[in-house]
Amino acid sequence: MSPKMNIIVAACENNGIGKNGELPWKLREEMKYFSRMTKTTSDPKKKNMVVMGRKTWESIPFKFRPLPGRLNVVLSSQPKEYFGDTNGSIICQSFEAALEEARSQDDKLETVWVIGGSSLYEMALTSEELHRVYLTRILATIECDTFLPPLDLEKFKLVHDPAVPQDLQEESGLRYRYEVYEKSKDC
Ligand SMILES: NC(=O)c1ccc[n+]([C@@H]2O[C@H](COP(=O)([O-])OP(=O)(O)OC[C@H]3O[C@@H](n4cnc5c(N)ncnc54)[C@H](OP(=O)(O)O)[C@@H]3O)[C@@H](O)[C@H]2O)c1
Repeated sequence: MSPKMNIIVAACENNGIGKNGELPWKLREEMKYFSRMTKTTSDPKKKNMVVMGRKTWESIPFKFRPLPGRLNVVLSSQPKEYFGDTNGSIICQSFEAALEEARSQDDKLETVWVIGGSSLYEMALTSEELHRVYLTRILATIECDTFLPPLDLEKFKLVHDPAVPQDLQEESGLRYRYEVYEKSKDC
C-alpha cells in the first residue's frame, strides 16, 4: 500500500506556473487554499507529504520552510550538505526515491501532494500512482517562463470534491476557478 498521490497547481491560460523563480501572481486566498488542501487529513493521526523540486523549495521564503504541518520532500541531485539544516525536510535524489519514502511511512501519511515545478508535474502526470490533479485555472494569459505540461483530458474526468469551492473566485484583479480532475481507472 502507498498513500494517494495528487498534484496541486495554479496555471494561467497559457499553462504558465512561474516567472523568474517565483509565482507570476499574488493571490492570498489561493495560497490559503493550497495550504488548507495540502495540510488537511481525514485521519487526525496522519500527515500529508509535499514533494517539490529544489527550485520550488528555494522559492519559498526561508522563514516559511519547511511548509508547516506537512512532511516536506525536496528533489535534488545536489548533495545533502548543499541544503544545510533542512529542519526535518527530506532530500531525495529521484522521484522514485520520494515515492519509496512515502511507502515506507504509509502508516503515518495520508496523501502525497506533488507541488511543482514543471518536471515534477511531468513525472507525476505520467505516474501510475497519480490519483487527482487539483488545478486552479487562472483566467488570464500571463507572461511566464515555467509551464505545466498539458493535461491529456482524455485520461481525466472532472470530479467534485466537497472541500473545493465551486464558484468563480476573484482577487487582485484576476479571476480564477478551482477544478479537480481524477485519473480514469483504465489509464
Ligand atoms: N503555479 C504553481 O502552482 C507553482 C507550483 C510550484 C512552483 N511554481 C513555480 O515554478 C518555478 C519553479 O519550478 P521549476 O520547474 O523551475 O523547478 P523545480 O521543479 O521546482 O526544481 C527543479 C529542480 O528540481 C530537481 N529535480 C527535478 N527533477 C528531479 C529528479 N528527477 N531527480 C532529482 N532532482 C530533480 C533539480 O534540482 P538540482 O538542480 O538541485 O539537481 C532541478 O533543477 C518557480 O517560478 C515557482 O514559483 C509554481
